[in-house]
Amino acid sequence: MNPEIASPVPQTPPTHLCQPFQVQWQHRLYFAQNVFSLTSSVLPDVIAFDPLPARVLVVVDQGLLNAQPQYLDEIIRFFQHHTAALTLAGPIIQIPSGELCKNDRRYFDLLCQALHDARLDRHSYVLVIGGGAVLDLTGFAAAIVHRGVRLIRIPSTTLAQADSGVGVKNGINAFGQKNFLGTFSPPWAVINDEALLPTLPHHHWISGFSEAVKVALLKDSAFFDQIQHHAPAIAQRHMPPAVAIIRRAAELHLRHITQGGDPFELTRARPLDFGHWSAHKLESLSRFSLPHGHAVAIGLALDLVYSELIGLCTPPLANQVIACLKTLGLPVWHELLTHTEPLLEGLEEFREHLGGQLTITLVRNPGESLDVHEMDQSAILRAVQKLAEIAST
Ligand SMILES: NC(=O)c1ccc[n+]([C@@H]2O[C@H](COP(=O)([O-])OP(=O)(O)OC[C@H]3O[C@@H](n4cnc5c(N)ncnc54)[C@H](O)[C@@H]3O)[C@@H](O)[C@H]2O)c1
Ligand SMILES: [Zn+2]
Repeated sequence: MNPEIASPVPQTPPTHLCQPFQVQWQHRLYFAQNVFSLTSSVLPDVIAFDPLPARVLVVVDQGLLNAQPQYLDEIIRFFQHHTAALTLAGPIIQIPSGELCKNDRRYFDLLCQALHDARLDRHSYVLVIGGGAVLDLTGFAAAIVHRGVRLIRIPSTTLAQADSGVGVKNGINAFGQKNFLGTFSPPWAVINDEALLPTLPHHHWISGFSEAVKVALLKDSAFFDQIQHHAPAIAQRHMPPAVAIIRRAAELHLRHITQGGDPFELTRARPLDFGHWSAHKLESLSRFSLPHGHAVAIGLALDLVYSELIGLCTPPLANQVIACLKTLGLPVWHELLTHTEPLLEGLEEFREHLGGQLTITLVRNPGESLDVHEMDQSAILRAVQKLAEIAST
């Protein structure tokens, strides 16, 4: 037999295949004023990718409509004016405001039903206008119907414009746990419309600036200086500096998602969740009467006092940040901090949510963060005590 034409030696097939692949996402963030004024071209620009007119199902936060009753008519007039580009896929849906809509499963069902009835497909759009809670709920429904319908967010609170509305997460609360159900799902676009903000009740107005302080401390010391400088004006609801700060916070958030290397939080660290382990716990302990941004302010103060006690950050920082938060009109203390056992459970819940080892991001100096994998519980309790003293002065 000729060895050159011998049949090949049978090879053992590989036991597994492993091939990395990439998916390209675009993060589109627009800054606008009066998106539904007839002369605004932002929305038609955002959807001008497919054959027109685009089919759009609109979902609006009831609290926003209570404060701006003319808004519904403005939306309808806008769609009537732009029939070549946009068409309403169904009646405009109004969702009750705040955490209630994430807690009560009926609103999730109602939205899924509405997406079904409107016969939305994966090239249609869900356009949601509202605070972070309504955005989270609607984003979740849009992400799972047909495994993902395009989502355009128009955040209408300072917190949602500076932080949550720009992110890639959505979710609802279940089994007593915040955001227990949810997905990572980048929106088609986010449009920050500053004209929505003036009607916010004051505690919600101020709420978003704790997230701005957070992201400044994590990423940009000059930005922290800017917030400190403008804190009195922001507390007085002076729009130009407030809008500039919300914009910078949103930009830093977007940069973290697009360039930070881990947009879907596949590693253990959640660097944007500085101050959040106790904030999430305080929110649920308060049965969500404490707005997210206020809880974050308290969480930042606690983690900074803790960091100072264990010698991780330099002494003036905690006082400086606390003074800034107070000037903004944000709280740095809540009686629930003294419920130490449930508070410390927040650390374990934070670990569980992420899986694996606990990872908490702390700040050494403005712009300089680091991850730790354990927190000293007795130092946390001392930090609570010290914060009580600071807060009462
Ligand atoms: N997905 C994320 O990455 C992420 C990040 C941070 C926070 N969140 C979530 O965001 C939610 C908090 O969002 P929020 O602070 O925007 O609060 P919110 O959604 O509860 O809204 C606050 C209140 O303001 C009202 N409102 C909204 N816009 C208004 C306007 N322009 N004028 C008058 N009233 C208006 C709402 O109806 C509501 O009553 C929480 O559920 C939190 O878990 C999500
Ligand atoms: Zn937050």
